[in-house]
Amino acid sequence: MESRLVVLSRGPELYSTRRLVRESEDIGLAVRVIDPLTLTLVVEQDGGKILHGGWPVECDAILPRIGYSITRRGVAVVRQFEQKGVVVVNPSESILNSRDKLVACQMMVNDKVPVPITAHVGAWEDTGRSVNRVGGCPCVVKSTEGTHGSGVFLVRSEQQARQLVYQMLERGMRPLVQEYIQESHGVDMLLSERGPLVLEVNSSPGLEGIEKATGVNVARKVAEFLKENLEISTKEIKNSDNKSINLKK
Ligand SMILES: Nc1ncnc2c1ncn2[C@@H]1O[C@H](COP(=O)(O)OP(=O)(O)O)[C@@H](O)[C@H]1O
Ligand SMILES: [Mg+2]
Repeated sequence: MESRLVVLSRGPELYSTRRLVRESEDIGLAVRVIDPLTLTLVVEQDGGKILHGGWPVECDAILPRIGYSITRRGVAVVRQFEQKGVVVVNPSESILNSRDKLVACQMMVNDKVPVPITAHVGAWEDTGRSVNRVGGCPCVVKSTEGTHGSGVFLVRSEQQARQLVYQMLERGMRPLVQEYIQESHGVDMLLSERGPLVLEVNSSPGLEGIEKATGVNVARKVAEFLKENLEISTKEIKNSDNKSINLKK
């Protein structure tokens, strides 16, 4: 039987969604696109339910395309699918981690992925010391939860950095002071004099630019990754069935 994939996306007409649907269908998956915000989640002891127009959503895998503005609601939907045991391309926890630049940096450093020196400043009085730590001015001040360039500032003086950090802390934001990689013109990967440095991770990247720029069929690779994981999970289910039969003997 064909494996059933649900693409969670608010825009079935969007380039990236269309590409992912097309490539997944091409490798033999039955695909449906559902707007995650239209789903009703029933949380209960015996597994819970995910309903669309009153009907339970049945699928073997999901591919979440959760935009920044619907993170909280989208992640709750993804978590409910995880609890049902379906294959999930990028799990709820990964989506949340990718939305926090500080967490993403910490995780990348842990896995030996090079990042620019980054300081999270807890008290505005420490701004000057943080600026020195990241190599002095000019440096970058940004909010750990910003997106699309909002809340990213190139600062040329310690005074300016202090002001920004103060304002961010006052608004309940978490400010980062970061080494400025002047020689770089890339987007989220900076080509520094000491090699490439990764700035952040995107859990639902637009595919149009990256497919055109690299000539890599990214949507196909995602679809193939999905299929491999579906095959692994089917094998695991079969193995656990065998085990329970053996135990009964
Ligand atoms: N430390 C840095 N050095 C040089 N350029 C940077 C640095 N941080 C951010 N930028 C530039 O600003 C852009 C936006 O910053 P980024 O941290 O990716 O936040 P956003 O979530 O807004 O994409 C980056 O794509 C990059 O071009
Ligand atoms: Mg970015």
